[in-house]
Amino acid sequence: MPDLEARLEELRASGLYRRLRVIESPQGPQVLLDGRAMLLLCSNDYLGLADHSHVRRAASDAAMHWGTGAGASRLVCGSMQVHAELERRLAEFKDKPAALLFGSGYLANTGVVSALAGRGEVVFSDELNHASIIDGCRLSRAETFVYRHADTEHLEWGLRKARDRGALIVTDGVFSMDGDVAPLAEIAELAARHDCRLMVDEAHATGCVGPGGRGSVAAAGVEERVDVVMGTLGKALGSYGAYVCADEGVTEYLVNVCRPFIFSTALPPPAVAAAQRALELLLARPGRVDKLAANAAALREALRAEGLAVGPSQTQIVPLVVGDAERAMALCEGALERGVFAQAIRPPTVPPGTSRLRMTAMATHRVRDLRRAAREIGAAARELGVLGAPAGEGGEPRTPRRDDGALDRAA
Ligand SMILES: Cc1ncc(COP(=O)(O)O)c(C=O)c1O
Repeated sequence: MPDLEARLEELRASGLYRRLRVIESPQGPQVLLDGRAMLLLCSNDYLGLADHSHVRRAASDAAMHWGTGAGASRLVCGSMQVHAELERRLAEFKDKPAALLFGSGYLANTGVVSALAGRGEVVFSDELNHASIIDGCRLSRAETFVYRHADTEHLEWGLRKARDRGALIVTDGVFSMDGDVAPLAEIAELAARHDCRLMVDEAHATGCVGPGGRGSVAAAGVEERVDVVMGTLGKALGSYGAYVCADEGVTEYLVNVCRPFIFSTALPPPAVAAAQRALELLLARPGRVDKLAANAAALREALRAEGLAVGPSQTQIVPLVVGDAERAMALCEGALERGVFAQAIRPPTVPPGTSRLRMTAMATHRVRDLRRAAREIGAAARELGVLGAPAGEGGEPRTPRRDDGALDRAA
């Protein structure tokens, strides 16, 4: 039997041990952590809708009307009007003919990638894609070509090499740990030229970028060239769950073969109703998206004024790459002592040597609080002698390069 305590000890020794922190209040720009008020700088509740009174009310009304659970998988007895209605609205929002809800983004990605690529075929995946995509590639049993981050030349080389075996190109729209945006126009062009399906994960793009928060695909104007747009309900939409938007042929196929859709209980009605209300609020007040962008810009500027080399992202995700996992954790603890909660992110979530504080702005932050947070993080960084390494354009390569075709990030 494997010695789990020894494995935990290894994690502790290498600075990779994880533990849960318990928050004693709703998600919001401020939270209560271990009895202390903290400025929250690492939530994906980007628009502050998880705590919005209308969204809460929609969830509680749905619980009273529909009950708390869906009872079964959609194909057994769990498909309810609330599911169909949210799918209709999401498809409209993403300008696609159809949509399909999933239990979570993790389930959607593992299920959809493994449904759309199989043995003998090739799936092309950006090296910084989310772990759920990596796991989907593994489950598919297809050969996986991992192209260098956002490197369309490398992708094209792989597509040529695969000849007619290419089944699927899959990429994050906004990369979850760096906050940069995939070159979707070029990728869509390559997908069309090489007759390969294209799937974009908009987990961090929906509600955050593009016209009215419609996402990175809409921002690039390639809605018609992206076959599958996946997104989550648990981030900017303040609820839980996920969706895939595509044409009816694809959604019909997924209903028939996608295992997490078939073999998992449908989303609970309160979560569905909350996401629907959040979507309505986003449509009614798209100014929230602009506020989010302005807050992210203010945060970046304030961190740079502290001499911190934050990455070149243009989105709400603001990474400060520290490098070593233990030093990143020390900076996180230093910030916590000063009243700022910005979680350190370490391997395998990010490649070795690129541990970081992954900071996220929310539309509900006050600029003066973001400036205060930057001052506190600056002070903690100076105390520890930790300054962020320049990442991306013009600086050091953001990630160590991996061998072609190697799929090795998620441990
Ligand atoms: C890019 C990306 N895709 C998918 C997921 C998984 O979504 P969920 O949290 O709904 O499982 C995440 C979660 O953080 C993500 O960052």
